Amino acid sequence: MTARKIIIDTDPGQDDAVAILLALASPEEIDVLGITCVAGNVPLDLTSKNARIVCELAGRSDMSVYAGCDRPLGRDLVTAEHVHGKTGLDGPNLPDPTMPLAEGHAVDYIIEQLRTHPAGTVTLCPLGPLTNIATALQKAPDIAEKVQEIVLMGGGYFEGGNITPTAEFNIYVDPEAADIVFKSGIPIVVMPLDVTHKALVTKPRNDAFRALGTPVGVAVAAMTDFFERFDKEKYGSEGAPLHDPCVTAYLINPDLFSGRHINVEIETQSELTMGMTVADWWRVTDRTPNALFVGNLDADGFFSLLTERLARL
Ligand code: RIB
Ligand code: CA
Repeated sequence: MTARKIIIDTDPGQDDAVAILLALASPEEIDVLGITCVAGNVPLDLTSKNARIVCELAGRSDMSVYAGCDRPLGRDLVTAEHVHGKTGLDGPNLPDPTMPLAEGHAVDYIIEQLRTHPAGTVTLCPLGPLTNIATALQKAPDIAEKVQEIVLMGGGYFEGGNITPTAEFNIYVDPEAADIVFKSGIPIVVMPLDVTHKALVTKPRNDAFRALGTPVGVAVAAMTDFFERFDKEKYGSEGAPLHDPCVTAYLINPDLFSGRHINVEIETQSELTMGMTVADWWRVTDRTPNALFVGNLDADGFFSLLTERLARL
């Protein structure tokens, strides 16, 4: 099987970091063309710094990392230092990056890659707010038919929201961008809170990361030790939910996941439910299905894959 060419669009974020590490540890299945950064968990200067910290942790200072949009399409930026810490990568003590940012804007890079590679051969993997993706689609509508698939972390249905009662953070930060993406006609796979809240880093699982004894294993364990506070307090969960690594794991082994191909639309009008992913899980409307909305995973299989791959770095 040839490796799937992907662009990771990200707002690191400890869980983004683990998703990036998993991708870089899996060259048989995933060819990371480049990483594009967006404002989200923390402002752009930090997400674009953190993405390079993670690449250097993985020994990939050769990776092209681009800075993208520093605010949502049409509203003020909302960040999540309360979850990820001031740096966005609190937990491990990692050195500042020495690798530079790649020249140029992330949006132009996304457009250029989609126009350069044969149509249907590049997958976009957004792990944060969808601002860069939506901006690329607005600037170059021709790229929509060139995208193989969008596999994203965002939204929630049975789980409701994690930043408001009805909205998940990535969608809430830029609902207009999400609306553009979900109406683009591009095949979409959604990893919502419904599945990511089942990917919990319990103590034995985090001990397995630490037991790798490598800089990567120790750093990932420290990241999740920090990152779990928010969800443990809010949900009483057994550990940090590894939201974004569900995207990468899906690319490696989709059989770990299950869901339904349904219609998903984004609330962009009501302040009360702004950013809600209105998922027609029970197919009660005649709205056209536009996304594979994932609801479940084999959590043990997910963590054994993740741990085995992190051991490679
Ligand atoms: O709601 C979880 C999502 O928001 C994850 O992608 C996390 O990194 C934050 O971006
Ligand atoms: Ca993220």
